[in-house]
Amino acid sequence: MRRSNIDRLGRAALLLAIAAGTGIACQQPPAPAPTPAKPPAIDHRPFGTTPDGVPVNVYTLTNAHGMEVRVTNYGGTVVSIKTPDRHGQLGDVVLGFDTFDGYLHNTPYFGATVGRYGNRIAKGRFALDGVTYKLAQNDGDNHLHGGLRGFDKVVWTAKTVDTVDGPALELGYLSKDGEEGYPGNLAVTVRFHLDDHNALHIDYTATTDKKTVVNLTNHSYFNLAGAGDILSHVLEIEADRFTPVDKGLIPTGVLQPVAGTPFDFRTPTAIGARIDVKNQQLQYAGGYDHNFVLSKAPGTLGVAARVTDPASGRVLEVSTTEPGVQFYSGNFLDGTVIGKGGRAYQKHAGFALETQHFPDSPNHPAFPSTVLEPGQTYHTTTIYAFPTPQS
Ligand code: GLA
Repeated sequence: MRRSNIDRLGRAALLLAIAAGTGIACQQPPAPAPTPAKPPAIDHRPFGTTPDGVPVNVYTLTNAHGMEVRVTNYGGTVVSIKTPDRHGQLGDVVLGFDTFDGYLHNTPYFGATVGRYGNRIAKGRFALDGVTYKLAQNDGDNHLHGGLRGFDKVVWTAKTVDTVDGPALELGYLSKDGEEGYPGNLAVTVRFHLDDHNALHIDYTATTDKKTVVNLTNHSYFNLAGAGDILSHVLEIEADRFTPVDKGLIPTGVLQPVAGTPFDFRTPTAIGARIDVKNQQLQYAGGYDHNFVLSKAPGTLGVAARVTDPASGRVLEVSTTEPGVQFYSGNFLDGTVIGKGGRAYQKHAGFALETQHFPDSPNHPAFPSTVLEPGQTYHTTTIYAFPTPQS
């Protein structure tokens, strides 16, 4: 920017000189001024090849502040997010792998786009208009995160698009009628855009040719310190109620007030402050793995949660149009997954804030509906923003 200003000044001086009839006018005409700096483009590189021989790429989104997000079209997966700490030092704040191979084996949905249905559907079945649909039971008796080959395990088409807000990466996937047991051909797009305020915008759209259910989310695991566990991260969730679960982590259907429970994050509280207290809900999940009922008006874009890491000063603010957020404190991590830099991810190495409709909604008519009909467009937005770090 500064350089092009200097060039423009130089050119203006030369034009003035020409106008004044000085000797300079005899010189070669000046080179045209460089075109104004464009917003950074999205770079892409090969990331690997699937066992079926399909090549996949990794796309790098950068912004004017040097923040960087990498996304692969395998599973619509966020591979890394580099944001500054209070000293301006960039650090990677999501769990994952250094190479593509890691994403093919044994990943607990690190960074993935989850679909057709984020979280659980009880007993892997639901009914629409009197027809019962049977899904894979890939989590005990229940269906989890879209089944055996959910959207996290497929190759998406990818293109970069110029939006009014700047360049975005648009991933596309056509989920065929009957895939993983779900009805209807579902055409899905997920758009990733990194703005100049250090916020990653994820926009999901979907249409169907047959009545179906859909609930898309992103399953990034954050650790704002970039190391250790997340128990000292301070969390605030804008929710007065949550959906308690049974021992299979299926909602009972009750919307329980958080007041007086370890689920009250209405004021900023360390994740680890109450995680070990005697509480049946925490025991069922081995920590937090619960859907919170967001207090904002349904369908509006509003803040769901805010997390700060006192050590690095980094802040994460999650906004969404969704009615719920699954706060998962990485309870199933047990050191067996070896991730970036050879690090064994131990219990609570990261947390997820999965914006969503409530788990098992297809079997709970009182929950906000996840039904999508032909002619309708599913559209949700979630923003992961990294405001100025705390000093
Ligand atoms: C979600 C679920 C958890 C677990 C993780 C992935 O957060 O609610 O129970 O399945 O995904 O391991």
